[in-house]
Amino acid sequence: MTAYEDFVARYPSYRDTAALDELRSTEYRRLDEHRQIYLDYTGGSLYAECQLKRHFTLLRDGVFGNPHSANPTSSAMTDHVERTRRFVLRYFNAADDYVLVFTQNASGALKLVGESFPFAPGGRYLATFDNHNSVNGIREFARAKGAAVAYAPLTSPGLRVDLEQLGTLLDRADPACENLLAFPAQSNFSGVKHPLDLVTKAQRKGWRVLLDAAAFVPSNRLDLKAVQPDFVSVSFYKMFGYPTGVGALLIRRSAFPKLARPWFAGGTVNFASVQAQAHVLSSNEAAFEDGTLNYLCIPAVEIGLEYLQSVGIEMIGERIRCLTSWLLEELLALRHDNGRAMVRIYGPAVAPDRGGTVTLNLYDPHGHLLDYRRVEELAGQEGISLRTGCFCNPGAGEMAEGLTEEDMRTGYALGEEINLQSFLGVLRGQGHNKSAGAIRASIGIASNFADISRFLAFISGFRNQTRLTIGDVTFDIESCRVIRDGS
Ligand SMILES: Cc1ncc(COP(=O)(O)O)c(C=O)c1O
Repeated sequence: MTAYEDFVARYPSYRDTAALDELRSTEYRRLDEHRQIYLDYTGGSLYAECQLKRHFTLLRDGVFGNPHSANPTSSAMTDHVERTRRFVLRYFNAADDYVLVFTQNASGALKLVGESFPFAPGGRYLATFDNHNSVNGIREFARAKGAAVAYAPLTSPGLRVDLEQLGTLLDRADPACENLLAFPAQSNFSGVKHPLDLVTKAQRKGWRVLLDAAAFVPSNRLDLKAVQPDFVSVSFYKMFGYPTGVGALLIRRSAFPKLARPWFAGGTVNFASVQAQAHVLSSNEAAFEDGTLNYLCIPAVEIGLEYLQSVGIEMIGERIRCLTSWLLEELLALRHDNGRAMVRIYGPAVAPDRGGTVTLNLYDPHGHLLDYRRVEELAGQEGISLRTGCFCNPGAGEMAEGLTEEDMRTGYALGEEINLQSFLGVLRGQGHNKSAGAIRASIGIASNFADISRFLAFISGFRNQTRLTIGDVTFDIESCRVIRDGS
C-alpha cells in the first residue's frame, strides 16, 4: 500500500475534494512551477489566477475615479463599492442585521471597536488568553477609560477556553455598565475553534461580544443569522489571498449606536465647521471609514467571495480536516531511535473543533528543544514556507509553553535588551527547558497530499539529531561542545 492509499483509506472523504486538485494544477499551478510548499495559510491565503484576471479585466475596461462624488467615473466606482458591501453582507447572511465598514485589515476593524466602545469605570473588557495582539491591544483603550481588564485562561494542553473560569468572569459584569468580551472564532496559534455559543451566553449576562473571525472564515461558514456577535472582524486576504489591504468590521445594528468615534476625518461627516468647531458624524458606516477607501481593490473582494462560493467552503474545510488530521497523527507518531517523541504539538491533537493550523516544536533524542528559527531556515532551503515565533498571539504561546507571569515579568524587566536570545538566556538561567516560540504549519485551499508528505519528510529528517543551533552557534547537546561558531 502506498502512503497515499493508506491516507485515503484513513480519510476517504478526501476523494470528494478532488476538484481542489484540479484547481491546484490550474489556478495555483505557480506553486508546483516554483516547487514551493506553502504552509502559511493562516498568515495569508493564496489567490487563484482567475481572481486576478477578473479584477484586471474590470479595471482595464472601466474608468474609475474616487468614489462618493456625482461625476460619472466616481459614481461608477461608488456603485462597485456599495455592491461589494451588499455582497459581503449577504455572504455572511448579515444583510438584515449588520452594517459593514471597510477597513484596511482585521486590525483596523479591531481598533475601530477599541477606540469607539464606551468603556468606563464599572465596565469591563474580558478577553481570552488566546487572542491576536490586535485584540489584546484593545485593553489599552479599556484601561485608559477606567474599565476593568481581565483574561479568561485556557486549559492545558488542549488550549481551549476554560469554560468554568470564563463563566465566573462573565458573572462579574454589571449589566448596567458597558462590558465587552473578545475572542477568536478560531485560534491563529493552535487552530482551536472556540465555541460560538459563547456569544449568546455572554450577551445574556450583559456583555457585548467581539468575535475575531479572521482565522475562521477562510475555511468555515460564518452565518450571522445563526450567531450574532455585536462586532466581527475579518481580513479578506486571509480568505482568498487577493487583494491585501482590505478588511471589514461588521457591526450589529443594535450595537451600532453604542459606538462613539473619538475623532472625525474626511468622508466621515455630514457637516464640519472650522469657525463653529463642530461636526456632525455620518449616521451610517461612513462614520467609520476614514478618508479614501482602497476603492480599486474593493471589487476584488466580491470576485474573491464568488470564487470561494464556486469552490464551496465546505469542500475546502473538509480537505483541510483530512490533511490536518493525518498530519497530526503522523507527527505524533514520529520517534527517535531511543523511543522518545520528536514532536510536541500545542493545542488539540485530534480534529474535532480544530482547524488547519498546527503549531509544534521539535526535540532531540535527549528531550532538548531544537531551535525553531533554525528549523524555519532549513525548511526555507527546501522551499517550505512555515512561520515561527508566537504569531502575534502571546497569551496562547505563554499557556502552550508553560511560561509563567514571573517568566514574562523577568523578560519585561530586561527592558530594551529584550530579544528572543536574551529571553531564552533568562529562562535557561532559571534551569528551564522552555521555549518562547514555536513552528506553525497551516493548511489551506490549495494544499494537497504531496505538500504534507514533503513537510513530514522534512520533519522526519530531524530524527536522532543531537545538534542545536542558537543564533550562529551550533552545539552538540550532550557534550555542550561548540561545533560551529559563525558569529
Ligand atoms: C485571528 C487573527 N486576528 C487578527 C489578525 C490580524 O489580521 P491583520 O494583520 O490582517 O490585521 C490575524 C492575523 O494573523 C489573525 O490571525
